[in-house]
Amino acid sequence: MSVFPKDPDWWRGAVIYQIYPRSFQDSNGDGVGDLLGIVRRLPYIAGLGADAIWISPFFTSPMKDFGYDVADYCDVDPMFGSLADFDQVIETAHALGLKVMIDLVFSHTSDQHAWFKESRATRDNAKADWYVWADPKPDGTVPNNWLGMFGGSAWHWDSRREQYYLHNFLTSQPDLNHHNPDVTQALLDTAQFWLDRGVDGFRLDVVNYYMHDEHLRDNPPLPPAERNDHTAPKVNPYNHQLHLYDKNHPKNLEFLRKLRTLMNAYNAAAVGEVGDSQRGLELLGEYTSGSDKVHMSYAFEFLSGHAPLPAQTFKDVFDQVEELVSDGWICWAFTNHDVERHISRWGLSPAAARLYTSLMVCMRGSLCIYQGEELGLPEAELDFEDLQDPYGIEFWPEFKGRDGARTPMVWEANAPFAGFSTANPWLPVLPAHQRMAADTSNTDPSALIHHYRRALAFRRQHQALRMGDITQVVAQGDLLSFQRRYGDELIQCYFNLSDHPVNATVPAGHWVTIGGELGSIRPSPDHSLNLGPWQPSILLLQED
Ligand code: BGC
Ligand code: MG
Repeated sequence: MSVFPKDPDWWRGAVIYQIYPRSFQDSNGDGVGDLLGIVRRLPYIAGLGADAIWISPFFTSPMKDFGYDVADYCDVDPMFGSLADFDQVIETAHALGLKVMIDLVFSHTSDQHAWFKESRATRDNAKADWYVWADPKPDGTVPNNWLGMFGGSAWHWDSRREQYYLHNFLTSQPDLNHHNPDVTQALLDTAQFWLDRGVDGFRLDVVNYYMHDEHLRDNPPLPPAERNDHTAPKVNPYNHQLHLYDKNHPKNLEFLRKLRTLMNAYNAAAVGEVGDSQRGLELLGEYTSGSDKVHMSYAFEFLSGHAPLPAQTFKDVFDQVEELVSDGWICWAFTNHDVERHISRWGLSPAAARLYTSLMVCMRGSLCIYQGEELGLPEAELDFEDLQDPYGIEFWPEFKGRDGARTPMVWEANAPFAGFSTANPWLPVLPAHQRMAADTSNTDPSALIHHYRRALAFRRQHQALRMGDITQVVAQGDLLSFQRRYGDELIQCYFNLSDHPVNATVPAGHWVTIGGELGSIRPSPDHSLNLGPWQPSILLLQED
């Protein structure tokens, strides 16, 4: 345990490094990453300058959705190790100054969870109402038009109860009935179990999916012009509905208030994943406003897009955040285990990748970076035969699923399987990734990892970047500019989001150039700024 009392605001502006445990580091030669592998690599994460780690689920699971289908919330899957191994993760992380956030999947369980086994046994057992059960329509068809994210109806027939149960994801991920207070109490007990074990916070999986409409009303159709691919690929019919009734229930917030009360006693923090393609930012505001629900919401705004995101997109998002999330807090990510890695998705050159990283560390909010992002890994192109992800198998080839972002972390360029494992890994290590391994990156001064280290250190030095407000957001062609301010510290940022030069004029005042280590350039004495391709200028106001 740290000897320093925990700052209750530790999460604000923090940089959280996301670990996908199956693919981070194997320690026992079975081709699958595990908790002791994480322990071994924690110094690497601390050395990057992250404040915290978020570990994707490592709980007991049949792994149909690779751990997002939990069969026991309070134990570790043997594949990942044991509770004692988890204690080592906590202890080592804390000794290195890293906070530990774990991923609570409270919307659904696995169909192998004891709760579900009991619930499905009869219609009148003690847990009969712990999941969302409904009778068929008179013609035997599903109760309403709700769709599962991973394809098909959100309802699955159970021949024992002769009823349908709800699943927003796989059929093997039955949805918990959050309208039942016994369920919510059991989940709060789960959270307390991990808080007592020393975790510093939670990532709450699909936090806006917890509650459904009790009247099971149909979702209205969404006209094609209003659809987007922010939270589901274009080819997914899930995008054809306005999700009014299967998620985003206003009473979700009551559960979050209870969870917050519990967390406050531990100075723990939560980031809730709020996935909604239409009402995303509005919901982020609802979930994080005041100080009584989740601390921050994980946003999807920068997790889509198939070309370098233009300045105007950043401005639009930042403006909407100011309007809709005025007293809330967002956690941004460019990439994660669910989306195509942004280097490929946005088609970034090394110079562009550096610039977007510099921009990221100047953004208002907290940040998540995803394992391998710091190495500049592109999406792994896999063959259909290599696929593990049921989502990709369902929608192949128009959507190739999430395996391309989940291939093993590459540690050593010259070791078998890039030092991830001594055995054949569960997903292949591509030669193109192996060449970018952490060890070669570390010895190559031009590698992206050095830029990440510098960028994270730079953010740490400036309260205005971590905690400050954001004003004067301007998008002018390819130039994005804004100010960040905290107390007396005022920082003016310019980013050229293009591969050609752009010009700007710096406001009057005595500005000192900072961020030289990120390539930030100085304005001319006449206050004109000539930014080269993908170049930033970051300026600190000096009081005369
Ligand atoms: C997680 C996914 C998972 C889904 C269902 C998501 O948002 O990040 O990996 O498949 O929730 O639990
Ligand atoms: Mg292993």
